[in-house]
Amino acid sequence: MADITSNFVGIKSPNPFWLASAPPTDKEYNVVRAFREGWGGVVWKTLGEDPPVVNVNGPRYGAIWGADRRVLGFNNIELITDRELQTNLREIKKVKKEWPDRAMVVSLMVPCEEENWKSILKLVEETDADGIELNFGCPHGMSERGMGSAVGQVPEYIEMVARWCKQNTRMPVIVKLTPNITDIRYPARAARRGGADAVSLINTINSITGVDLDNFAPQPTVDGKGTHGGYCGPAVKPIAMNMVAEIARDPETRGMPISGIGGITTWRDAAEFMALGAGNVQVCTAAMVYGFKIVREMIDGLSDWMDEKGHRTLDDVVARAVPNVTDWQYLNLNYIAKARIDQDLCIKCGRCHIACEDTSHQAITSMVDGVRHFEVIDAECVGCNLCVNVCPVENCITLEPLAVGELDKRTGRTVSPEYANWTTHPNNPAARIAAE
Ligand SMILES: Cc1cc2nc3c(=O)[nH]c(=O)nc-3n(C[C@H](O)[C@H](O)[C@H](O)COP(=O)(O)O)c2cc1C
Ligand code: SF4
Ligand code: SF4
Repeated sequence: MADITSNFVGIKSPNPFWLASAPPTDKEYNVVRAFREGWGGVVWKTLGEDPPVVNVNGPRYGAIWGADRRVLGFNNIELITDRELQTNLREIKKVKKEWPDRAMVVSLMVPCEEENWKSILKLVEETDADGIELNFGCPHGMSERGMGSAVGQVPEYIEMVARWCKQNTRMPVIVKLTPNITDIRYPARAARRGGADAVSLINTINSITGVDLDNFAPQPTVDGKGTHGGYCGPAVKPIAMNMVAEIARDPETRGMPISGIGGITTWRDAAEFMALGAGNVQVCTAAMVYGFKIVREMIDGLSDWMDEKGHRTLDDVVARAVPNVTDWQYLNLNYIAKARIDQDLCIKCGRCHIACEDTSHQAITSMVDGVRHFEVIDAECVGCNLCVNVCPVENCITLEPLAVGELDKRTGRTVSPEYANWTTHPNNPAARIAAE
């Protein structure tokens, strides 16, 4: 059976599934129940200095739903913990003592002064926690006070605070990054320069999830007003995975441990993050929407898949997809694919035809010999994949590559065995200049 035990920057846990710093981890009661269900670790809800922050008493969450009312995107305007520091520290120490095999990481956010960091680090060390995560990501409320993403958007600050922490604690330091930045590689590089043991990402994305059109106020609406919040859940997974991959393949940060976060709901989501370079994963929204028991599907699903594929440990999976992430200019322009419609599966809804007809390459019929029939016209199809994505029947349309030597009816050329990319293409001005 596959071994899914995890060792992330020296922090051991029975599986790679941690709960991210958020409401699921904000008190002993929650964390103990999560551990009972099997979560491998937690990052405790972000601690700050006393007196604690104050949350709004009106709605603090918003959401975007799919047609089946499934939560696709989640938004919050919650702050860090609003409980006394000593209460949290006492509970952290107790839970760690009672659950020694689970990872206990403590998320921290204090003003950007070395003394403030020094004194909270000392207090956290006394709890015997396994590590700390620096919350440089929270995009609302705390950032206006010069913390959270206000630090995470300035690489020099990240480097400075990471260095302070490394100098003042024996615990591994994980820097949690904000996605509210143009190029994620810069803050990740800064974390590495500051000596951080790892980065975790993503925190939430600045967002307004909706507008109440009766009151003309953003949602969630607190007494007629709204504010931007942090977006998370399945909708942010593609953004998060790209950022994880960017860090994993950047020569300056390659090899730095990454804790992957953002929309992870199933074992497959987790495996995808790990393949792109995440050593473990953290989950928030899925636990808030479905409860702690979802970890069972994650544990069983991951280990069944690993057994099936012959992966023995997480090391067989982590970063395996990274060499296949490349820049656009290196994609093979001699790879030719065409859409194929399985007539037995087709329900003749016509969506593929309309999509291709109106916005792609007019490559799908709607009528053949006076009969409603949907078929790909190879002489027009550019293999764009639009029809595959709009077809409501899974696997009804597939994109299939032409074999080497086969005729591409659209261009009249046979498929070449050579790999050819934009860097050497005759239409590329840079390639032309280099050839002259
Ligand atoms: C209600 C809520 C509160 C959160 N509070 C914190 C926090 O205190 N500290 C922190 O680092 N991240 C916080 N986060 C961000 C999550 O830890 C996580 O990075 C983000 O939600 C993306 O993961 P997900 O898509 O699995 O939810 C919070 C998220 C939510 C939804
Ligand atoms: S792959 Fe693109 S071009 Fe080809 S049939 Fe589908 S939508 Fe049209
Ligand atoms: S979208 Fe799919 S099911 Fe509908 S007509 Fe096209 S191939 Fe058939």
